[in-house]
Amino acid sequence: MPRHLITSAIPYINGIKHLGNLVGSQLPADLFARYQRARGNEVMFLCATDEHGTPAELAAAKAGKPVAEYCAEMHEVQARIAEGFRLSFDHFGRSSSPQNHKLTQHFAGVLADRGLIREVTETQVYSKADGRFLPDRYIEGTCPNCGYESARGDQCDNCTKQLDPTDLIEPYSTISGSKDLEERETKHLYLCQSQMKDQLEQWIDTREGWPILTTSIAKKWLNDGDGLQDRGITRDLDWGIPVKKGDEDWPGMEGKVFYVWFDAPIEYIASAQEWVDSGKGDDWERWWRTDKGAEDVRYTQFMGKDNVPFHTLSFPATILGSEEPWKLVDYIKSFNYLNYDGGQFSTSRGRGVFMDQALEILPADYWRWWLLSHAPESSDSEFTWENFQSSVNKDLADVLGNFASRVTKFCRSKFGEEVPAGADYGDAEHKLIADLADKLRVYETHMEAMEVRKSAAALRAIWVAGNEYLQEVAPWSTFKEDPDKAAAQIRLALNLIRFYAVISSPFIPDASAELLTAMQTDKTSWPGDLAVELTALEPGHAFTVPDVTFRKITDDERAEWQERFAGTRD
Ligand code: 2FM
Ligand code: ZN
Repeated sequence: MPRHLITSAIPYINGIKHLGNLVGSQLPADLFARYQRARGNEVMFLCATDEHGTPAELAAAKAGKPVAEYCAEMHEVQARIAEGFRLSFDHFGRSSSPQNHKLTQHFAGVLADRGLIREVTETQVYSKADGRFLPDRYIEGTCPNCGYESARGDQCDNCTKQLDPTDLIEPYSTISGSKDLEERETKHLYLCQSQMKDQLEQWIDTREGWPILTTSIAKKWLNDGDGLQDRGITRDLDWGIPVKKGDEDWPGMEGKVFYVWFDAPIEYIASAQEWVDSGKGDDWERWWRTDKGAEDVRYTQFMGKDNVPFHTLSFPATILGSEEPWKLVDYIKSFNYLNYDGGQFSTSRGRGVFMDQALEILPADYWRWWLLSHAPESSDSEFTWENFQSSVNKDLADVLGNFASRVTKFCRSKFGEEVPAGADYGDAEHKLIADLADKLRVYETHMEAMEVRKSAAALRAIWVAGNEYLQEVAPWSTFKEDPDKAAAQIRLALNLIRFYAVISSPFIPDASAELLTAMQTDKTSWPGDLAVELTALEPGHAFTVPDVTFRKITDDERAEWQERFAGTRD
């Protein structure tokens, strides 16, 4: 039986993520994890918060809190929201964990031993008033390219040019505002990715069936000459993982920390160690070490397209460069962007729906269904309130919810709250069962291939087939002439509710659980032979009428939400 290691890109700690972030990695990863578990496979699903770098420090300063305290609080906030969306992580770790400190220092030490880290003396901007260097966002000034006055040390937000702090004209510290700055020499560590170009290229070229989005980005970085330059993996910051060579101090690197993008992917592994150390698991190595049982693990990563270069090149450079038997990724599923109502989601401007806000207005399943069925796979996609309203109202309320409600209520009124006996299944029933068996195979194929939109369409087609059957055989009419025949039709329809609940659970876990409770069954294993599955609830089996599984979104609500989320978040 295959074992599945699944990771989602780890979200930055600085604030609550929007729905575009959610659909770009955590949610499709959860869909796949739930599906593999439902198929009876062993799964290790890991995520974490990405807690280092200047964005974390600046967000903490803005909140007026020490950065460690800010990160601890925001981790809890993100963890609660993830639970709200039913993201079924086996562990939701923290890149600032002691486990990640140790492992990151270990990798740096090993890479240095292999000659893959070199020390570079470079000029950085030092603030005398602040008594520190000013990397990335700690310095602003006038852009040498466009003249914009608030360009940051790493990039100009006006013309998007990548900058170095030393490029800025009339720079000032964003900490104190001081202009008393000078250039000083400082030493940093560089990861010699360029030495590994051939090895990485060969590795990418031999990955079979990877999404074009993933390989095209990787190839572009490999061949543009830009991506495989050696990269600085240290920073002059207080908050982060202190630069050490394994357990030993690194002379000349005192007071420096590793760059956030060096330690973040290592947290995928450290998260599994945290899982063990927190008492939830007993063996992380069988997932991560090919010398300790992980050779039969299939490892899949989920992420947005902006993360692809780090996962196809930088992190594999760390893993391969170590020459240690770490599990390398087998498949990288990447996503385009989700846009919001004619523009972009924007964290800085608070534009769009953020994860906490989404759960305040509707249950998780509504969002899960819409986001997954519109996942930005082959191109960017767009959230509009009209589309959201119509998908929820049609797919969830009219097709699935209404089916369950109609069938159970009709049965209660004519036969009582138990599965009726009556005639055997006839031609129409056998035809439906055969059709559903074909459609189920299509659904499974797409789920296995992580084709998220196609999977949603295949699932919807299964729901629709049941509805069409019900319309066609019309038990409410049959009942008048032939109650036994109507009983058989309703018996099949009740069985369909159970079947739908089981196969829909990766997409809409709460609604599935409600339907299973209403059907009073614990037969939840993945369906095999449908002729058998669709007789699982036998005559006499009691059920209850479920509460409204999905309600409709009204035009007034749609208009209200559209207005509420158009502007800036408080
Ligand atoms: O883009 C982001 O949100 C990053 N925090 C993703 C890091 S993924 C990995 F490297 F851990
Ligand atoms: Zn500029």
